[in-house]
Amino acid sequence: MAPLSTGPHGGDIFGAARELGRDTGEILDFSASINPLGPSPQVWKAIAASKHLLSHYPDPDCWDLRQALATHWSIDPEQIVVGNGSTELIDALPRALGIRRLLVVQPTFSEYAAAMERAGGQATSFETDRREHYAVPIDRLSRMIETGRSNGRPFDGVVLCNPNSPTGQACSVRDIERLATSARRRNLWLVIDEAFIDYCPDQSVLQRAVSWPHMVILRSMTKFYALPGLRVGYAAATRATARRLQRQLPPWSVSVMGQVAARAALNDTAHARKSLAFMDRERERLRMLLAALPGCVVMPTCANYFLVELPRSRHARGVTEQLRKQGLLIRDCSSIRGMNSRSIRMAVRTVQENDRLLQVLSRLLQSGVSS
Ligand SMILES: Cc1ncc(COP(=O)(O)O)c(C=O)c1O
Repeated sequence: MAPLSTGPHGGDIFGAARELGRDTGEILDFSASINPLGPSPQVWKAIAASKHLLSHYPDPDCWDLRQALATHWSIDPEQIVVGNGSTELIDALPRALGIRRLLVVQPTFSEYAAAMERAGGQATSFETDRREHYAVPIDRLSRMIETGRSNGRPFDGVVLCNPNSPTGQACSVRDIERLATSARRRNLWLVIDEAFIDYCPDQSVLQRAVSWPHMVILRSMTKFYALPGLRVGYAAATRATARRLQRQLPPWSVSVMGQVAARAALNDTAHARKSLAFMDRERERLRMLLAALPGCVVMPTCANYFLVELPRSRHARGVTEQLRKQGLLIRDCSSIRGMNSRSIRMAVRTVQENDRLLQVLSRLLQSGVSS
């Protein structure tokens, strides 16, 4: 059998099920951070009512969905570009904006550096500090943006995930506005990835930043709306920037069901409220349980996951593998630039699922099994 392994991203229940000889339904996935309440019930109804559309190409303009998003945000639909997950838009960014060297606030989602490499460009890092729980030092970052240089070489764009993954840290609107002012002075692109911001909506700059010519805001329907399998994300920017991004996307990249489901999900404000209330409660309960595990350090978070450092005697890779053998997936963060060898990320899931993970993890940490 192939050795147990994890790729650059979480969420691969298919690979885990194959390796373990189990059904995907027997895998509990804490490695991707998806709303544990699942998609809105309206999504299932909308999909069932749209079955007849499967034998047609999807709307290449995603018009109805863009209209719905524009109404939701009180902006112009021409300022929105929909992609096959926000990952498709991340991939298009360097080509669309002509970015050759991107300053990435680390540690973070690896697709920014990967997209730069695929586009023949380069990523350069701005490191946040573990001793400050990876909070973004806005003064230091805006000073660097104002120089427009890192390691002595110029960069032409900056990306910041807000909240950031895997750290869970979020910047305030004022902080982002400061960075935007610095970027504008230097004529640099500023990309703010708000994939997880539905969990702290007051920190979103989407509505303000959409009219700033050097900014792009990315959003995802994967996390809060729980649609990872349908692949829907979007960018909001000025009309001119949105057109540049759209031109880099292949035709029909967003499926019929993705468009239908995203609209239904967006409209269900009751499910959104319920999801937020659940997360507020369960995240705090899980935080207390994790903090009570001897030697574990739990980082503060604004999102639906925790970055945790295991006790000194343990290694994230070993613990991740031990849990995986029991059908429990967490994210080993030890190989992420800037993280130490004891760092793991785990999503907040349902009460029963969280209890199961905690039970197995605490037994594992107490046992003498080397991990
Ligand atoms: C910060 C961040 N942005 C974007 C994405 C991509 O999300 P999607 O392509 O599913 O919209 C992820 C996925 O993990 C992420 O963590």
